[in-house]
Amino acid sequence: MHNCCPSQRQVNGLNNVLNRHPWWRDAVIYQVYVRSFLDSTGDGIGDLAGVRAGLPYLKKLGVDGIWLSPFYPSPQHDHGYDVAGYCDVDPLFGDLAEFDLLTAAARRLGMKVLLDIVPNHCSDEHPWFRQALAAAPGSRERGRFHFADGRGPDGSEPPNNWHSMFGGPAWTRVTEADGRPGQWYLHMFAPEQPDWNWRTPEVAAEFDQVLRFWLDRGVDGFRVDVAAGLFKHPELPDSPDPEADARTRDSVNPLAWNQPEVHDVWRHWRAVCEEYTARDGRERLLVGEVSVPTARDHALYVRPDELHQAFFFDLLSAPWNADAFRKVIGEAMQDIAGTGSTVTWVLNNHDQVRTVTRYGEPTPEGSGLGAARARAAALLMLALPGAAYIYQGEELGLPEVVDLPDDVLTDPIFRRTGSRARIRDGCRVPLPWSGQASPFGFTSGAEGARPWLPQPDYFAEYATDRALADTRSFWHLYRDGLQLRSRLPQLGDGALEWLDTPPGVLGFVRGDGLNRGDGLVCAVNFGTAPTPAPVSGTPLLASGPCPAGVLPGSTAAWWINDL
Ligand code: NOJ
Repeated sequence: MHNCCPSQRQVNGLNNVLNRHPWWRDAVIYQVYVRSFLDSTGDGIGDLAGVRAGLPYLKKLGVDGIWLSPFYPSPQHDHGYDVAGYCDVDPLFGDLAEFDLLTAAARRLGMKVLLDIVPNHCSDEHPWFRQALAAAPGSRERGRFHFADGRGPDGSEPPNNWHSMFGGPAWTRVTEADGRPGQWYLHMFAPEQPDWNWRTPEVAAEFDQVLRFWLDRGVDGFRVDVAAGLFKHPELPDSPDPEADARTRDSVNPLAWNQPEVHDVWRHWRAVCEEYTARDGRERLLVGEVSVPTARDHALYVRPDELHQAFFFDLLSAPWNADAFRKVIGEAMQDIAGTGSTVTWVLNNHDQVRTVTRYGEPTPEGSGLGAARARAAALLMLALPGAAYIYQGEELGLPEVVDLPDDVLTDPIFRRTGSRARIRDGCRVPLPWSGQASPFGFTSGAEGARPWLPQPDYFAEYATDRALADTRSFWHLYRDGLQLRSRLPQLGDGALEWLDTPPGVLGFVRGDGLNRGDGLVCAVNFGTAPTPAPVSGTPLLASGPCPAGVLPGSTAAWWINDL
């Protein structure tokens, strides 16, 4: 019999659809770099079962969900950002059954699960790329990638002057079936990561299936890798400034990045997410890794029918300086929050030098100054309107490991730059959980089991068991900040109002629609000398010792306003 009354589930779903405050707008997500989180099998490499075992720890920390770095079948030339199969789990990390257990456990704890989807490129071991290598120039198989003839009389020069983001040319020449040197293929990253040709409808259709595969398995959304990539200028012409392309790791080549067609893909993916939301009322999220020149360009990616959010990296790249922070925060609020989306703040991730080291002196153990600033930056980020992402180990105050020996480095950038750029291994060293010596509880293997990157002895000081036991630790600061964030409506979605502060100090009030007197004030002293606090009372929370009425150097604090 047809029942005309909606079930409770349908009502909840409808309410959620109509709810104008979707969870992602001010969520705090924890980035799990799976291979370095927790190893359940003893092979020295973190895995999905390890992530499941760590969920209660993350729940206690108070994050709303996790983003899992790629765990798909991959030869691991770029630690999973070279995907050989998009709808499975690499045996290194577990299997689909383990993935299901992980998402079910997260759901039980009320935590969201985001996957990392890599649509710009795949692995040279992806079956379609293997078919392309075996097929002839001009074939349908080659049309799924960017194959082109070389320049020069014998085609021995690359088809254009583009540089790979990882160093060296963006083209590699193949050997054809007859054994002769043949066409070239495009890879904006490592040669093991051929770029897809999104002008071929088959590619778009394939990614539709990938999205649906994981959405059907219950994920809450995706972090989208290289979201300003995908399309290249159709004629693949020379870059106007190849020197600039080679100098920076930013996506500056205007013919290789940020092409207008990419926005159609995000509109389509958003529609797919909305389709799932309409079915069950659960909001799905697309958060893009968007590297574009200005906050205005960035804003185009988060228009209401495109990506829900995009990481705002300008905060991460701002130097420790009140004016620089104020400028980037102001631009983000004006240009991005102006689209109706919220800003997605980030201070650390698996590609960047950790804040403790970035803001401090370059010593192996990190410096006290860097740690004080990193704590202050964390409180600042957690007080800003919008979403925030915490990279694993950030909550422990881990410094970058700056002295890894050359022979253990795995980042393709190191190889591709002739061993000049030691950039991304130092923030990927496996987490310390307990104990006095490596592996610090990271791997369940027998005594002496070796994590895939060596952990320095001083990681003992940062182990999670010590952090939890010490109320002055980074961990407690993050946990207390997250607890206040979930309790105080002032810290939710909304705007911020700048305070007049002395040079070197940043201050703002949060709390839309509240009396100013109920607002939450956050202030950061970027200098080293103390300054009068903007609010006279004792702070609710401070990143370091903070007596009433004073804001010490390299310190941030939160107060309920008494202005
Ligand atoms: C961005 C990812 O964060 C990085 O780790 C990866 O190497 C590149 N995209 C290429 O996929």
